[in-house]
Amino acid sequence: MSKMKTAIYPGSFDPVTLGHLDIIRRASVMFDRLIVAVMHNQNKHPMFSVQERMDFLKRTTDDMPNVVIASFGGLLADYAWQQGACAIVKGLRAVSDFEYEFQMALANRKLNPELDTVFLMTSAEHMYLSSSVVKDIAVHGGNVTGFVPDGIIQDIVRRTRKED
Ligand code: COA
Repeated sequence: MSKMKTAIYPGSFDPVTLGHLDIIRRASVMFDRLIVAVMHNQNKHPMFSVQERMDFLKRTTDDMPNVVIASFGGLLADYAWQQGACAIVKGLRAVSDFEYEFQMALANRKLNPELDTVFLMTSAEHMYLSSSVVKDIAVHGGNVTGFVPDGIIQDIVRRTRKED
């Protein structure tokens, strides 16, 4: 019997965008279980708490039964080992992402030799997207429809209004 294949899609997801969701949807059909892991990161100053980011992800992936939403701190390679994952999934948007991602993939494989990184090319319409772009648009009163899942637009509007 073949072993269940688990992959991890890590990130800040502050907040989840349609670009992330596109990667989640495509990766979910490639693996038996996909853990979308929200990172606790002291270096970034998130707009949304880890709980809120997980909640947004849960709400927008509830039609994908093999997608699990979780959070992690520390090294990704250790977390992947704890979860029995064979792969990390990352989205590549442009050539500019490549050097950094290549370095991380090699470092992660050195830390956990059984762990490979699978890169999915982001769909053309999401090439320019990032969570920071979404937050910048929202903070300046712009419309984020078409950038993030419809179900979280109101949450973003509410948060950015508070910061006015
Ligand atoms: N669609 C839209 N946006 C995307 C995207 C996609 N497909 N893929 C990436 N992005 C965006 C992200 O939203 C993020 O935007 P932001 O900078 O505005 O927040 C940006 O591109 C960078 O994404 P990424 O490189 O995935 O960074 P991240 O901060 O979301 O996550 C980790 C980084 C969690 C993967 C990495 O820091 C990590 O593994 N940390 C754990 C510690 C560790 O193990 N360190 C050693 C690694 S070798």
